Amino acid sequence: MENLIKKFPEGFLWGGATAANQCEGAYNEGGKGLSTADILTSGSRTTPRRITPVLEEGTYYPSHEAIDFYHRYKEDIKLFAEMGFKVFRMSIAWTRIFPNGDDAEPNEEGLKFYDNVFAELKKYNIEPLVTISHYEAPYNLTKKYNGWADRKVIDFYVKYCETIFKRYKDVVKYWLTFNEINALTMPFGTFGAGAMMPPEGNRELTNVSLNNDQIRFQALHHQFVASAKAVKLGHEINKDFKIGCMIAYMCTYPLTCNPEDVLLAQQKDNLNNFLCSDVQVRGAYPNYAKRYFKENNIDIIMEENDEKVLKEGRVDFYAFSYYSSSCVSAKHVNNKTGGNIFSGIKNPYLKESEWGWQIDPKGLRWALNNIYNRYQIPIMVVENGLGAVDTVEEDGSINDDYRIEYLREHIKEMKEAIADGVDLIGYTPWGCIDLVSGTTGEMEKRYGFIYVDKDNEGKGTLKRIPKKSFYWYKKVIETNGEEL
Ligand code: BG6
Repeated sequence: MENLIKKFPEGFLWGGATAANQCEGAYNEGGKGLSTADILTSGSRTTPRRITPVLEEGTYYPSHEAIDFYHRYKEDIKLFAEMGFKVFRMSIAWTRIFPNGDDAEPNEEGLKFYDNVFAELKKYNIEPLVTISHYEAPYNLTKKYNGWADRKVIDFYVKYCETIFKRYKDVVKYWLTFNEINALTMPFGTFGAGAMMPPEGNRELTNVSLNNDQIRFQALHHQFVASAKAVKLGHEINKDFKIGCMIAYMCTYPLTCNPEDVLLAQQKDNLNNFLCSDVQVRGAYPNYAKRYFKENNIDIIMEENDEKVLKEGRVDFYAFSYYSSSCVSAKHVNNKTGGNIFSGIKNPYLKESEWGWQIDPKGLRWALNNIYNRYQIPIMVVENGLGAVDTVEEDGSINDDYRIEYLREHIKEMKEAIADGVDLIGYTPWGCIDLVSGTTGEMEKRYGFIYVDKDNEGKGTLKRIPKKSFYWYKKVIETNGEEL
């Protein structure tokens, strides 16, 4: 057996991650259509973002300008290169390619924009890792079809994939079909992931209480079929493509050793974390899902070929986001934590971020082992990081030691997981440049190594300033994770 050592492997993919709707801006330039993300207002820790079916005059929409990556990508990529990035995770805005989603022809200007971005990355030998759909879809598809609730959307998505696979087949190797696809196992995913419009009176992004399991799981099935078709097609277009799933891995501990809590934690792990990857990695619905569907009166409508399609479209690697962990209890407990798509019960052993997300580096090692034990395929951590308020000092510096500390501890645990035998191939911390927060729409919930001068109301010069963590991460990459 191979000797397992506590070191990142040669060629480890160090980098950073973003998403189009949170950084590009230029929401109506270059022929781009309106996306679901463009109708989300800003919010805060206490005020949820609103979904507005019609753009409101005088309301601030953070995605419309975001950090203006659309016009500043050269400057930003240069800074990524200075840190030594080997990989850059970004998403393509579907609405730049097919403004309405159901258009007959793609929008050349949108395709050209990504030609330019990929050429710029190539200049610095940075490998793109492209999310095909990151919490946005053409809004027209929501209006006409109620998004992923309608099976027809599969064909629009596959056509979009075919277009970008063919266009970028020689410049992009790594792809992710859907960001955090498992969001649709929870009501939160209704609009953000499923592009389905909740009924009036129920249009707060993080509070969507529409608990229609039937519609959500049917929409998820459509995404599974779409993802599998895309994987198969991608491999036909370029056999060297590596196409992955992307899961929001919510590390869930039992609050006590009461077997009821332990069992509940396992059930949550299955249903909310593993159901999606079991389908995408293994190519079929797991038995526990069938039981869940039966007991909850969910009847997934499948077409004859669907099972075959799922089998044929298995992903090449497993990618996930990891920010925090939480607990579950079979009893009712009020003490809730925050979290990206799921909030559980507070863990008395952990501290939390300013936004109430619990900080748990060891949970990352646990998650990596848990995932690898199940699938034995390469893994990438494609989101991780600390959302925090940063202060610009009088001398212009930003001393984000708290962020360094967070990342350092998580990197240490990744190293431990590698020594445990996990085949970890890459790490792209989230929001490598400050960008709009997904859940709250704020700018001041910052994750970046690079500061962007813009506030929650959209005011600021958009100037980029490297933070202390910028220089620290550069060293981490330079030493392949040896100097932390
Ligand atoms: C993930 C999303 O769930 O969490 C990102 O994929 C998001 O889009 C990230 O930005 C962090 O969440 P937030 O709300 O702090 O931006």
